Amino acid sequence: MMSDRFKNRVFIITGAGGGIGGGVARRLSQEAASLVLADVNADSLRALAAQMPTTSVRPELLVLDARDPELGKRLGDAAISRFGRIDGFVPLAGIIKIKPLLELDPPQWDLVMGINLRSVFFSIQAIGKLMIERGWTGSIIATSSISGSGPRPDQADYAASKAAINHITKTFALAFAPHGIRVNAISPGVIETPMWQEIDNTRSAMLGVKPGAVLKKFREEIPMGRVGTPDDISAVVAFLLSDESSYITGQIVTIDGGFQLKHP
Ligand SMILES: NC(=O)c1ccc[n+]([C@@H]2O[C@H](COP(=O)([O-])OP(=O)(O)OC[C@H]3O[C@@H](n4cnc5c(N)ncnc54)[C@H](O)[C@@H]3O)[C@@H](O)[C@H]2O)c1
Repeated sequence: MMSDRFKNRVFIITGAGGGIGGGVARRLSQEAASLVLADVNADSLRALAAQMPTTSVRPELLVLDARDPELGKRLGDAAISRFGRIDGFVPLAGIIKIKPLLELDPPQWDLVMGINLRSVFFSIQAIGKLMIERGWTGSIIATSSISGSGPRPDQADYAASKAAINHITKTFALAFAPHGIRVNAISPGVIETPMWQEIDNTRSAMLGVKPGAVLKKFREEIPMGRVGTPDDISAVVAFLLSDESSYITGQIVTIDGGFQLKHP
């Protein structure tokens, strides 16, 4: 156990079966948090739970699709019935589909927007409402991306969803501030996870280069000389969930090893 600063704190994480989600879940459980972990992928959730230290609080696992219209209510009810409260929410579930701009079709647009934006907006709204009604303070951390701050012709839907995340983060931060609920977003750069593996595979195939070539090119563009890891992100999520960040709200925190300094 790293520390017990999150003892009796209850955090809800979606996309917990993913690269970043798994890292965040492990980090928070090492700091004694009580966790509700949700993902559409039951196998990855079970694998994650099996890796949790036996000394940590057993997490509540929920297999669900983030597009479930009752998402926020289901997550909130699970946290309240198992642990009796909610202190934080980290919606990390997200997808990317690399596709040339002129081939992007409405079904893909709706899929990406549905998971990356719509589900995030309405789950923050529902969980925020549950917390406000009960007078609970806390911290919500949406997931943006450096893709949200500039044009991205082969991921226009993804980039637009993340740009909108930056916007709604500030809207919720302003509305929830009087209730003692802080709302920020993390904006990761290139983080080595299954999602980046998929980006590399698709782009490398499109360019006719060997797998790994695209990731290598990106790595060379990162001023700090390495791609990020889920641990780089988890440390910032833990900070934003903790009382150490008690006066920070409405911020988009970039974690990219300096990549955006060269590619704004
Ligand atoms: N990896 C990066 O470089 C990077 C950079 C910027 C932002 N992000 C963002 O970070 C978040 C996590 O990304 P990651 O790299 O860990 O990806 P990942 O693919 O490893 O994990 C994503 C998780 O979301 C889950 N998920 C997907 N669709 C879902 C749905 N409909 N309902 C419930 N769960 C669903 C997947 O099963 C998976 O476990 C995403 O929002 C992503 O956009 C990642």
